[in-house]
Amino acid sequence: MKRCIRVFAAGGTMAAALLLAPVSSGGQESGTDDLARQIFETMLKVPGTRAGHRPVHAKGIVCQGTFEASAAAGALSRAAHFRPGPPVPVTVRFSDGAPDPAVADTAPDAGPRGLAIRFDLPGGDATDIVAMSHNGFVVGTGEEFLALQQAIVATDPAQPHPWPVERFLAARPRAMKFVQDNRAVPASFATEAFFGNDAFVFVNKDGARRAGRYRLVPVAGTRHLDAAETKSRSPDFLSDELKARLATEPVRFRLVAQLPDPGDPTKDPSLVWRDDRKTVDLGTISLTSVAADPATAERRLAFDPTNLTDGIELSDDPLPALRSAVYALSVKHRRAK
Ligand code: HEM
Repeated sequence: MKRCIRVFAAGGTMAAALLLAPVSSGGQESGTDDLARQIFETMLKVPGTRAGHRPVHAKGIVCQGTFEASAAAGALSRAAHFRPGPPVPVTVRFSDGAPDPAVADTAPDAGPRGLAIRFDLPGGDATDIVAMSHNGFVVGTGEEFLALQQAIVATDPAQPHPWPVERFLAARPRAMKFVQDNRAVPASFATEAFFGNDAFVFVNKDGARRAGRYRLVPVAGTRHLDAAETKSRSPDFLSDELKARLATEPVRFRLVAQLPDPGDPTKDPSLVWRDDRKTVDLGTISLTSVAADPATAERRLAFDPTNLTDGIELSDDPLPALRSAVYALSVKHRRAK
């Protein structure tokens, strides 16, 4: 059961919790700020995190490459990187979702894998996508995410079953599925599919608005390891394999927007849309190298799902704004170490 705790655990040791300075709002906190602060403080109480590292997705590798828009992208969004033209530079961080920066890539609780992308746009602007390897988030609201973190923190493996986290999962089949699916170990970061889960609104040059969710489809195909293969891999095989692969060929993903049918919910990222929904191919990400100074890149990069640009807007999904507030607390905290 420990693996269930850690698969979405996001927090620190008790020592880290004690080191956490109270987060001052400088006045009245908004509802989002208050929830964000409660979530972050609870994340820090979950065993596994290390001061100075991300409290989730702590182990990662940063790569460089480009994004080239498809011919169809501009009809969906007028965003600068979706217009026809030369490829734009991208910085990508792949990660294991676990809070422990030393987690073995082969561990059943290392997932979900993360893929965060920064597009450097002409004129100095930038925009981000922060995606993970599961179609459907573990819960649908910030309050549920807080309840999950609290259940994890309240779980003491020395106590008899059912533990608080087991009761949480037993009552929520989608969260249970998330935990079970995420035990799969990809053969490579280049053979994993990633999902944005949160819905955004795409706006084209005529002002037409269309909701959508990002998907990143590996051009090399999706492949996961079986039990024997997993056993044969080393703890850092995902980054080692990626470096070796990049030395011989680019790693490519197709960036796709899945569009909802009328009635498909956009405000709950735990509710997946059926696979027969229309998709628009937005273009191709081609990664060509690992960042020259990986340690500095790891530390400096701060992705934000609300770092948008003209042509991409928030939808009625409240999670990106909440995530943004939690990520900001996390960045401040990890950079202070
Ligand atoms: C209430 C919901 C969520 C909360 C509170 C949350 C919290 C966090 C925090 C605190 C970080 C560390 C940020 C940093 O220090 O830079 C993080 C990183 C990350 N999160 Fe979330 N997250 C949430 C939902 C999601 C969702 C829905 C996805 C993807 C679909 C996601 C994908 C990631 C990824 C990939 C990273 C690592 C980014 C990097 O490589 O720097 N998270 N999350």
